[in-house]
Amino acid sequence: MKRVFSGVQPTGNIHIGNYLGALKQFVQLQEENDAIYCIVDEHAITVPQDPKLLRQHILDVAALYMAVGVDPKKAIIFVQSDVPGHAELNWILTCNSYTGELSRMTQFKQKSKGRESAPTGLFTYPVLMAADILLYDTDIVPVGNDQKQHIELTRDIALRINNKYGETFVVPEGQFVKSGARVMSLDDPTSKMSKSAENPHSRISLLDEPSKIKKSIMKSTTDSEGVIRFDVENKPGISNLLSIYSAFSGETIEELVAKYDGQGYGTLKKDLVEVTINALTPVQERYKEIRNSQELIDVLKDGADRANAIAEKTMKRVKDRFGLGL
Ligand code: AMP
Ligand code: TRP
Repeated sequence: MKRVFSGVQPTGNIHIGNYLGALKQFVQLQEENDAIYCIVDEHAITVPQDPKLLRQHILDVAALYMAVGVDPKKAIIFVQSDVPGHAELNWILTCNSYTGELSRMTQFKQKSKGRESAPTGLFTYPVLMAADILLYDTDIVPVGNDQKQHIELTRDIALRINNKYGETFVVPEGQFVKSGARVMSLDDPTSKMSKSAENPHSRISLLDEPSKIKKSIMKSTTDSEGVIRFDVENKPGISNLLSIYSAFSGETIEELVAKYDGQGYGTLKKDLVEVTINALTPVQERYKEIRNSQELIDVLKDGADRANAIAEKTMKRVKDRFGLGL
């Protein structure tokens, strides 16, 4: 069995990009692998968070994991800060990474753009992500395309340490889905759908009401050509709607293009509204059952115990290799 590890930040507004790019794979991968899914709260504080809201968002994401189908009998679900090994390994990896390679991370460049000085944590964040992954001897990391560079860095750091200190880490691989790996914003289809964009109609959150879903899709930016075809460069809006449709319905893009041949954008949008609402309704129902339950707390406590047991073993091995402690 292969070890699968992934994480989502508890920052609210989990959207269909997170679902199609990451969560959907979490559910598929738990069947035949040894899967571990984390709520990465230590990553969330790379930017200021309201402490009360952060606690709420941790439980929101945990409940969403379960609502989309992650099964605590098949996978470990836990909160990052409940396992001290993440922060501990982070330091060791920080000492084995370089400011040059971290300066090349596009996510850091984007997030620090226009600031005179950025928090150090924002800069070293990919190292903490590497620690998350390497702590569990991970083989496969299911994530959206935007994390490709961070996975490469994780591999570089693991190989570097293995070469210098002897076999210490499993070198992981990223796994990216074909359709849905990069869901774009509905109001500006040239940038990715994001949790933090100001306009709520730029995204569809997993917990959005049907009327909000309808409004966001019907308002979405397209083009004036009036022909439904897949062409990311010239028709980013329509291509994004086709990708989302395909990811939710299972029909291929080619099938959809044939189905909507000669029809207007309005028809495509109306049908996509229905497909999306049908996909999200059962998730929302399950979410309501779990979110305030004792079951959720029990799952996270049990998950932390199981994750800690694995992390402690890795840390013992790592400290041994580096000659740390006694
Ligand atoms: P984050 O919101 O950064 O915590 O992302 C959680 C997961 O969702 C990661 O695996 C991301 O790669 C994925 N993700 C975030 N935004 C998108 C998007 N617009 N399209 C596809 N996947 C995404
Ligand atoms: N950096 C990821 C994101 O922003 C979240 C994350 C943190 C993660 N640690 C991870 C994903 C480990 C996969 C594995 O989406």
